Amino acid sequence: MSRVVLAAAGAELAQRVGAAVDGDLQVLPAGRLPGDPARLFEQLVDGELPEVLVIGPDAPADQVLLLAARLDVQCPGISVLLIARPDPALLQAAMRAGIRDLLDPAADPAEIGASIERAARAAAGRRRVLRPVEDSARYTGRVITVASPKGGVGKTTIATNLAIGLTSSAPQSTVLVDLDVQFGDVASALGLVPEYSLPDAVQGPAGQDTMVLKTFLTQHPSGLYAVCGSESPAAGDTVTAADVSRLLAQLAREFRYVVVDTAPGLSEQTLAALDRSSDVVMLSSMDVPGVRGLRKELDVLRELCMIPAGRHVVMNFADPKGGLSVRDVETTIGTGVDVVLPRSSAVPASTNQGVPLLESGRRDPMTKELRRLVSRFAATPLVSPKGQRAKHRAAS
Ligand SMILES: Nc1ncnc2c1ncn2[C@@H]1O[C@H](COP(=O)(O)OP(=O)(O)OP(=O)(O)O)[C@@H](O)[C@H]1O
Ligand SMILES: [Mg+2]
Repeated sequence: MSRVVLAAAGAELAQRVGAAVDGDLQVLPAGRLPGDPARLFEQLVDGELPEVLVIGPDAPADQVLLLAARLDVQCPGISVLLIARPDPALLQAAMRAGIRDLLDPAADPAEIGASIERAARAAAGRRRVLRPVEDSARYTGRVITVASPKGGVGKTTIATNLAIGLTSSAPQSTVLVDLDVQFGDVASALGLVPEYSLPDAVQGPAGQDTMVLKTFLTQHPSGLYAVCGSESPAAGDTVTAADVSRLLAQLAREFRYVVVDTAPGLSEQTLAALDRSSDVVMLSSMDVPGVRGLRKELDVLRELCMIPAGRHVVMNFADPKGGLSVRDVETTIGTGVDVVLPRSSAVPASTNQGVPLLESGRRDPMTKELRRLVSRFAATPLVSPKGQRAKHRAAS
């Protein structure tokens, strides 16, 4: 016997689903489908979450996809079925958003029942797998910290583009944390005007409860979530290493990817982030002082045994006229270089506009290399913003 909730469906379809369900069916009143799972489930009579959510054809496709993608991240123990006219673009978008099955609006109760039963079995299986993870509070998400010994070498540029790229590979999957506690500029690089900042996310009720923490995140139009930097250096200084550690642990339980932008050097907050990280993107400008600094930082981290398992060395501002080759860099730092980003005039323009290159999709050698960096982490290939817009249009 499974618990099923039906949303965005008319009376006739509700009757057919009712005939198909072997268990408890709750039909939500018609009306706008909220994009936020919490608001949807507020409407449940007894507040108990279902195994299967069936969404009828009465809601616009973009709303359905947004809700499904959020449920996929926030409530993976719920399977979502969509009843809608099947077209290839919708099918692909639905799959990406984690929708389990697409049913024709004319499906008979037997077909609907079989699909619900399969979905309920899948939900039960996922709950069995997830429970031990929740109980033992193990980290599930990948925490990727972008660090460099020196300032102005492109940490924020890379962290914001990486976060946007990961969001486009898996919607609603990524949160970006601005840990440049004194002078963080993630909000400006993403064109955001945040209501809350880093201290709000670690102090008070948000630090105790992950549900509350989520309400302190700022959302970017791409679907990326962000913890933006402090309002002033003094406010930033109140954030301790323990705060950072707890924040990243909370976020890693909720998001597939937690990308962390840092201040130059090895502050206590950066060390706390590295301690919680599965990956580090070690960045340097491609010049002699930058590369020497990188070598020293790698040596210190090696001594402290604080280099995460995933280590990605990235050179920025590469310029063929600079006189330094990748081989020279590798010899100096004693390890391989993974990605080389060229100097490009498109980058400062994108910083000034507050639109990362991977959001605008502007054709540029830097865009190509940034995609290469994202693909080291992304589970699915990147979709260009233009392609995504076309799919959404086709789906609605
Ligand atoms: N490959 C590049 N080509 C040209 N300009 C770049 C490149 N990468 C970054 N920049 C520019 O360099 C400046 C500094 O970049 P960014 O703010 O990302 O560095 P940062 O390491 O985060 O700096 P800080 O240490 O001050 O936080 C920005 O104006 C950015 O647009
Ligand atoms: Mg920065």
